[in-house]
Amino acid sequence: MTPARRKPIVAPVPGMIWSALPVPAFLLAQRDGCEVIADCNPAAELFMSVSRSALIAEPVFDRLSIDAPMEEAVTRARHNRAPIFINDAEVCTGERAPVLCNLQLAPVEEAGETLLLLVAPREVAGRLGRAQAIKAAAKSATGMAAMLAHEIKNPLAGIAGAAQLLSMGLKPADRELTDLIVAETRRIVALLDQVEQFGDQRPPRRQAVNIHDVLERARRSAVVGFAAHMSLRDEYDPSLPTVWGDADQLLQVFLNLLKNAAQAQPDGGEIRIRTRFERGLRLRDDRGRDVSLPLHVDIIDDGPGLPPAIADSVFEPFVSGRENGTGLGLALVSKIISAHDGWIECDSVPGHTVFSVSLPMAPSAPPAQASAAQTKETD
Ligand SMILES: Nc1ncnc2c1ncn2[C@@H]1O[C@H](COP(=O)(O)OP(=O)(O)OP(=O)(O)O)[C@@H](O)[C@H]1O
Ligand SMILES: [Mg+2]
Repeated sequence: MTPARRKPIVAPVPGMIWSALPVPAFLLAQRDGCEVIADCNPAAELFMSVSRSALIAEPVFDRLSIDAPMEEAVTRARHNRAPIFINDAEVCTGERAPVLCNLQLAPVEEAGETLLLLVAPREVAGRLGRAQAIKAAAKSATGMAAMLAHEIKNPLAGIAGAAQLLSMGLKPADRELTDLIVAETRRIVALLDQVEQFGDQRPPRRQAVNIHDVLERARRSAVVGFAAHMSLRDEYDPSLPTVWGDADQLLQVFLNLLKNAAQAQPDGGEIRIRTRFERGLRLRDDRGRDVSLPLHVDIIDDGPGLPPAIADSVFEPFVSGRENGTGLGLALVSKIISAHDGWIECDSVPGHTVFSVSLPMAPSAPPAQASAAQTKETD
């Protein structure tokens, strides 16, 4: 007996894009209360080592065993009509060892209740993987760098002091040299201060924080200091709930981002500070727990954009496109945001650069209890 031919449940997606997509992609539809594969692309066939025709109409989570609450995610994506991101999930196809993947679920507006599921193995999702690698490398390297910085600062203070004493008995012409020693020593001390700050391993002291208070503090410092030549505009969503964060560390984040935006345009320009609430982005924290990041802050400038040569590595330490830049500003930002289980990314073209920071909401538990739990978690 020949098996009945299985028909596609929805019309195939316009061929070229679907076939060219280098990431395994599945269209999911509901049939008899079960989530089935309505279609899949060639990358998905390769990933599953099974042909498309054998996958159509199969219950998707029988074929793809995913170490994440997928049924809940599917229901939520349909209900909220919003995409959902799940990182670092182990995906097993039955044929081989589980593969660590980043998943995206998105409703397809034009096709009723259909959902698009993208399964990006970690090599494909390089950006996310790289962020984790930077985090691990930074942890080991920064402790040592901070210790070294501390040790070097003491003798430097001695050198600067001795140069100042020497200068007292010198003629003005010779004093130029001792002034140079003092100025250069100060510059090195400032650099070492930054290295020390970067190596600070203390966990954030998190509590419910009104992010607009933090942004206002950053904005006020900026307009009277390093961004006096810029025009700053805020576009705040006043209904934003509180962030679960360390106000001082978050202040440092936004100061660094505003400073970069101002330094990118020495002749002036505009910086917009925007806040928004948007569900959908979820990450796994170091302990494998699912963290939702619905609070977003965008720092937008209309400057020349990231220099293309370093655009992919600006969050790494000592990567700078400025003559006197140490390249530690964004590395520190990235470190703080990741200690907050948050996410930062940058989208930059000439005339429009956006740094977007996404953060978790403060829990509804009483603050005393919640902060005790956090201290324990992050120790
Ligand atoms: N808004 C921006 N527009 C254009 N380029 C930017 C922007 N933000 C960062 N950059 C680029 O990214 C580089 C790295 O930034 P980062 O803050 O890490 O270091 P830095 O500003 O060079 O030095 P530091 O902040 O340690 O003094 C900058 O040198 C600059 O080339
Ligand atoms: Mg900087």
